[in-house]
Amino acid sequence: MQQNYQIGAVILAAGKGTRLGGSIPKQHRLLRGEPMYMASLRVFASVAEIGEIALVVDKAHLEEVRSSLTGVLAGMESHKPVIHVVEGGAERPDSVMAGLAAFSSGVRYVLVHDGARPYVTEQLVCRIADAVTTYGSAIPCIRPRDTIRTAEHTLDRSTLYLVQTPQGFRRDILEYAYEQAKENGFAGTDDASYVEQLGVRPHLVEGDPANMKITIPGDLPEEEETPS
Ligand code: CTP
Ligand code: MG
Repeated sequence: MQQNYQIGAVILAAGKGTRLGGSIPKQHRLLRGEPMYMASLRVFASVAEIGEIALVVDKAHLEEVRSSLTGVLAGMESHKPVIHVVEGGAERPDSVMAGLAAFSSGVRYVLVHDGARPYVTEQLVCRIADAVTTYGSAIPCIRPRDTIRTAEHTLDRSTLYLVQTPQGFRRDILEYAYEQAKENGFAGTDDASYVEQLGVRPHLVEGDPANMKITIPGDLPEEEETPS
């Protein structure tokens, strides 16, 4: 199919990993013998719809990531998107905006992914990429397995979802949402919450239970954990 637009993917790997702890941020810890962010990068790089990737990294690891990528890309046989390695910011929204700013003007749809979700699959990326070009937004959701409650009462589980990444949006809408949030002092925990502030209701797509975020000690498989 002839596409007259490009899809860009922002892979966020600029956080501090405070909750996981250890001597290096979690996205740089080894998983299957490679820094964790590399798993996401490989998946996005092999999806043909993705024309550009912005890999957003903390300042301390910028040069290390740039030099190690050269070898990895040379070894990739499949589709090779343009990869921008850019420096992240203090908070997640700053890192998202740094990633978006790196894309060329041909990028009209963007997927934003947590580099701390190394189990993302090509199938999930394709589901989000397909849906975002149809609906203008697409977020992967799964049903909670446990009952969820507030301190006061039990919530109706049939109306609840756990939300994952990659989340896809029209680039202009996501950029505007983050600009507005900065002006209004809004802070959310995912990209969809920013776009919702504009009155946009994101399109829900089936997520993947395996696509968990490495957040606290114990989320990493023990045999993969690098000594900290
Ligand atoms: N992230 C980022 N830039 C930041 C903060 C977060 O790129 N300033 C990225 C993280 O690297 C991660 C994703 O956003 O891939 C999701 O954030 P989270 O799981 O909260 O990671 P951290 O902020 O690094 O961890 P913590 O909150 O425990 O410090
Ligand atoms: Mg965080």
